Parts: sequence; structure tokens; C-alpha cells
Amino acid sequence: RQVLVIHGPNLNLLGRREPHVYGNITLDTINTKLAEKAELLNLNVSVLQTNHEGVMVEEIQKAEGRFDAIIINPAAFTHYSIAVRDALAAVNVPAIEVHLSNIYKREEFRHHSVISPVAVGQIAGFGAESYIMALYAADCLIRGDKA
Ligand code: DQA
Repeated sequence: RQVLVIHGPNLNLLGRREPHVYGNITLDTINTKLAEKAELLNLNVSVLQTNHEGVMVEEIQKAEGRFDAIIINPAAFTHYSIAVRDALAAVNVPAIEVHLSNIYKREEFRHHSVISPVAVGQIAGFGAESYIMALYAADCLIRGDKA
């Protein structure tokens, strides 16, 4: 029951990056909350953040056989990275797409995700709680639960 959490570009700046959109919470605090919830759910969580598309692709490739689910906030890559999408499609690990903000009520260029078609589902708009919800989703997926 291993879950890989991938934070994409500029999410290392959370806390001081556009707080009116993303809130005041830092990435460290989000990761701490994730670790706490993971313990309650009996999941092992590994977390990484990268600003580099190639690194994201390589980490997804390496997830095969090592992780039971991927929680990914691809950040700006959401909207144009076919490489990240193809990596997720290539590995046999279910992915949950996460966004802090509700991308559908923002600028038009954020309305489209090239990642969603290869994800099990998407959670967007709940700030840091989006990640916690995704952790519950991962738990259900791994256990094979359906609502
Ligand atoms: C984001 C939304 C993206 O449009 C944006 O590029 C981000 C963060 C979110 O979590 O709301 O960097 O993925």
C-alpha cells in the first residue's frame, strides 16, 4: 500500500505564491498533513516536488511495480504536457489528479487538462484538502472499494 505524491512546478512556492488563489499553506505543511492522514489510513506515502517535466516523467516511469497509486498535481504541465500524460498512460499504476484551485473557474487556458483522460479521476478546488481527499480516493482504489 504505497502511494506516490508528485507536486509539479512552482508548488514549492506555496505559501507566498498567489495566496489569493492557492491560500497561505506551505508545501511542507501539506506534506505533513498527508503523512498524518496516511498513517491513519495505513498507507505509506512518498512525496516529491519537481519543476522539471523530464524529472516528472522519469519518476512516473519508476513508479511501476513500486507504488499502488499516484497522486499527482501536475500544476502547469496539466494543460500541455503530453509527455507527462504518456508516462501516466505507460505505467500500470492508477493516478489521481489533484488541483488546489478549481481550474474550471479560472482562465480559459486552465480549463483543459491533458492529464484527466489517463487519470482515474480528478479532485480540484478544495485547496490543501484536495490532496487529503485524493489520499482517501487512493485508499479506496487500492482496496478495490466502490461507492
Ligand atoms: C494548479 C492549477 C494549475 O493551473 C496551475 O498551473 C498550478 C496549480 C492547482 O493546484 O490549482 O500551478 O495545478
